Amino acid sequence: MRKIKNTKAILFLPLIMISCGQNKVDYKDPSQSVEDRVESLLSQMTLEEKLEQINILVLGKNENVNNVAEISDPTGRKITPEIGAVIALGPDVDIINEVQRKAMEESRLGIPILVANDIIHGCRTLFPMPLAQACSWDRELVYESARVAAKESYLSGIRWTFSPMLDVARDGRWGRVAESYGEDPYVNAEYAKEVVKGYQGENLSDKYSIAACTKHFVGYAYSQSGRDYNPTEVTDLALWETAMPPYQAAIDAGAATVMSAFNDFNGIPTVANGALLNDILRDRLGFDGFVVSDWRSVEQLVAQRYAEGPLEAGVMSINAGTDMDMYDYIYSKFLGQAVEEGKLDESVVDQSVRRILKVKFDLGLFESPYTEKLEDSERYLSPESRATSLALAERSMVLLKNEDNTLPLSKDVKKIVIAGPLAGNKVNMMGTWRGFSSEADVVTIIKGMKETFGDNAQVEYVDGVSFESTSPQFATNLKKAAKNADVIVLALGEQQYWSGENGAKASIELPQSQSEAVKIAKELGCKVVVLTASGRPIAISELEPHADAILHMWQSGLYGGNAVANILSGKVNPSGRLAITFPYCTGQIPIYYNRRVNARNKWGRGQGEYRDAPIDPLYEFGHGLSYSDFEYSDIRADKTVFSKDDKVRLTVDVANNSDIDGEETLFWYVDDLVATRTQPIKKLKLFEKKMVKANGKTEFVFEIDPMRDLSFVDEKGNTHLEKGDFNIIVKDKVVKIVLE
Ligand code: GLC
Repeated sequence: MRKIKNTKAILFLPLIMISCGQNKVDYKDPSQSVEDRVESLLSQMTLEEKLEQINILVLGKNENVNNVAEISDPTGRKITPEIGAVIALGPDVDIINEVQRKAMEESRLGIPILVANDIIHGCRTLFPMPLAQACSWDRELVYESARVAAKESYLSGIRWTFSPMLDVARDGRWGRVAESYGEDPYVNAEYAKEVVKGYQGENLSDKYSIAACTKHFVGYAYSQSGRDYNPTEVTDLALWETAMPPYQAAIDAGAATVMSAFNDFNGIPTVANGALLNDILRDRLGFDGFVVSDWRSVEQLVAQRYAEGPLEAGVMSINAGTDMDMYDYIYSKFLGQAVEEGKLDESVVDQSVRRILKVKFDLGLFESPYTEKLEDSERYLSPESRATSLALAERSMVLLKNEDNTLPLSKDVKKIVIAGPLAGNKVNMMGTWRGFSSEADVVTIIKGMKETFGDNAQVEYVDGVSFESTSPQFATNLKKAAKNADVIVLALGEQQYWSGENGAKASIELPQSQSEAVKIAKELGCKVVVLTASGRPIAISELEPHADAILHMWQSGLYGGNAVANILSGKVNPSGRLAITFPYCTGQIPIYYNRRVNARNKWGRGQGEYRDAPIDPLYEFGHGLSYSDFEYSDIRADKTVFSKDDKVRLTVDVANNSDIDGEETLFWYVDDLVATRTQPIKKLKLFEKKMVKANGKTEFVFEIDPMRDLSFVDEKGNTHLEKGDFNIIVKDKVVKIVLE
């Protein structure tokens, strides 16, 4: 680490303190205001200490906990006692506490280190991927999963998680679609609130509260061709209409930090894009926490041909509003020189340090820097946490097809044959970013099916179908096993690393061999149930015709095997609905429900269509089947002509014409028929999931607030509410209302 030459600052330090009068507040005194504590501490820091504070490295697993003095990041760089933050790669409380002890006792000012990790969908109790969770339409359960994740993280020594990811994802080729809450900005915004509140609790300083980090600000999901780290061209309208609402929601929910993204945003990489980070994120959205760069993204400005060298990259990034530098050590190594050479004003460094210290004080880190040492059984996998994970897996799975009520399986089923690469697999059910979870905790599909059906039926696994090939013997072996079988269950899908970061795919079709396996099964004459697992929407039009039923199980965390068995047996009535469109084929991408009309949409079929594929997706946003039989009434409006200050109360009754209790999610869409900016054919403005008892009826209500629900945003982020006709749409029901 570079020594700062301006030693005279240290010699005159006492004078500086007295002169600016900050020494009257003891920053270690919790009775003082956070603001005063920050200023008091900042005024005592040397430039070198400040530059360490805006730096985050990785705390590698040190095999020998006794020589923690040698603790370092995997490249061997020292974790100094003055460093601002570390990403802890493991839940080893001894190592984390020792690093913290050095910061508190061996540094001059005793500033605690902020310890982070990517807890994306659970810590040790792993939950389904965020995209799966979005398909549950269960705000409370998503909130609860974040609460569990926060508590287990806190007990692992983690006080900051790089989550939730709020990139509205509409390109299934992009691997990180798995970490999003789907294609709709309102849906991402709704879950953003729940997850931020779940992580941060009532107060950041409460026990089990950890700081959220909403990411990746902004436009990362527009990565060209779906390839990670590619440049993005984002129109102003897309920025404000689609990308921004989830961040506004997260900031309004109090998100403590934001992570800037990797992408080159319209020619200015986000990490150094002051218009985005200072003008929009802070001045327009009102964010007052700190921004951390993504992994070495300051350094990558040189590779992106935006910075001459690392010093310029650092200066541009911190001036643009990126407060903390992740892992490329540029701020620590070069900004002292930049200040000395007059290329960077120290007040900019102060501003970043101030923001970081505020979060540390808000977290109560100065008062409670250490983590209680507990047994894993005391800090992880409580019965309640496991129940939450199972419930979320059950409620996020989506029944895509159920020909002739193939599902649920009859209680008299005597033989079930299971095949496919996911049948006995653990790691690929967990998805990307596994936190501190363990493969050993995963319940496989075979295990789940045997637990549920094994007492009354034979459950037999047939090998031979792997992710990308099917053995020549498979057909023969399956035929033999399927003799007298009631059903063949094929557990198909993606490998864990086929999605996630840097997990782009040029084709979202499943491998041909998997579709072949379905055809082979179907030729044997018994029912074929296909389970598909993936972190992204997959194109399964090839296998779809040969399957009697298709249940999309996503990457379901620890208990996917139990969730699948509970749904196939009818113990659980599937209630998941798609939060992202499933294209008919990759060539349709980008395809999403809230699209604008084709110019010739009134000229009949053939106009603006493909020569070689349909224009409709295989499964629409919101699609999902139930074992119940729901029937919707017409939409009733308490008024159809109204003014901007009125509320319009809309009601729909949903009847359940079956003997099976079922939960239905009602999607209320708005269609602004004519506007001074063309509007999508429909925009989701409310979703609500409720139980509809067997042979009963449940009322769903949407009270329209015109400014909230009928307005639109323009390319400058300005909101407009215009008079005219609006269609309100629920499933196939429509009512027109008129704003005068
Ligand atoms: C990764 C990801 C980001 C993650 C960070 C720290 O490259 O882009 O989402 O939080 O680095 O692991």
